[in-house]
Amino acid sequence: MSVATDQPLLAVDDLRVTFPTRTGEVEAVRGVSFTLGRERLGIVGESGSGKSQTGRAIMGLTPSQARITAKTLAFRGRNLLEMPASERRHLRGKQVAMILQDPKYSLNPVMTIGRQIIETLKTHEKVSNAEAKARTLAMLEAVQIRDPERVFSLYPHEVSGGMGQRVMIAMMLICGPELLIADEPTSALDVTVQLEVLAILDKLVAERGMGLIFISHDLRLVSSFCNRVLVMYAGRVVEELATADLSQAQHPYTRGLLNCLPTIGSDRHPLPVLDRKPEWAL
Ligand SMILES: Nc1ncnc2c1ncn2[C@@H]1O[C@H](COP(=O)(O)OP(=O)(O)O)[C@@H](O)[C@H]1O
Ligand SMILES: [Mg+2]
Repeated sequence: MSVATDQPLLAVDDLRVTFPTRTGEVEAVRGVSFTLGRERLGIVGESGSGKSQTGRAIMGLTPSQARITAKTLAFRGRNLLEMPASERRHLRGKQVAMILQDPKYSLNPVMTIGRQIIETLKTHEKVSNAEAKARTLAMLEAVQIRDPERVFSLYPHEVSGGMGQRVMIAMMLICGPELLIADEPTSALDVTVQLEVLAILDKLVAERGMGLIFISHDLRLVSSFCNRVLVMYAGRVVEELATADLSQAQHPYTRGLLNCLPTIGSDRHPLPVLDRKPEWAL
């Protein structure tokens, strides 16, 4: 299939995700719009601002009770909302992949690590057993697992959190997706392990020329990792900026997040309290 070079990898226009609840409808995502090329886009915002539901809508993993609408939700020009379910499943994993926050809930506890990566690969590609195993071991090595043969035959509970998250990255990248959504991929890890895992992700995204959506509540982390940042508040994008222009952020919420960043050599006591204005959520 040929694709016009000016076509974005992903186009999102007026995306809305609404949950019915006993007390009425909750709009988790309220008109999010952006386009993405082969670049790194960060989505930041506090807990509950709609970051994960935005990522899930792109993946086709919106909970079934929710209603999802958009003027455009297209991957390489293909309308995701009108795509048959089987085609959507094929796209997921093969061309678009998502790393979730906690590998404990994402890996199958009763299947060895090697087998689950092989199954992911075989779902999307016709490969021999020997080739599948060789590619799985190579992928484990690519996420800097030193002893891939040993880790291949372990169960998820037998590895550390950092190792589990690297296994998740390996599993999500085995089919060579063009777009990777990483939803707080290292939030459950210790700071030092977090940096190791991010360095691995960073290298793989660069080497493979993937588009990346990096979701985090941590503006500093996002700005060290991405070219562009969307700041979300109460289900909306309140500001979109190149990371290089972060210091010129206009929205008071973004400015508030920036003021919370510690700077070396300055004494920050007390920590500033983020002030929220009801009109930001309008
Ligand atoms: N299963 C659900 N049922 C009802 N509301 C939900 C559900 N999941 C998410 N929401 C609503 O969507 C909002 C955004 O959720 P989410 O995208 O997970 O936020 P974030 O990832 O930014 O922390 C939440 O504040 C909540 O109100
Ligand atoms: Mg989330």
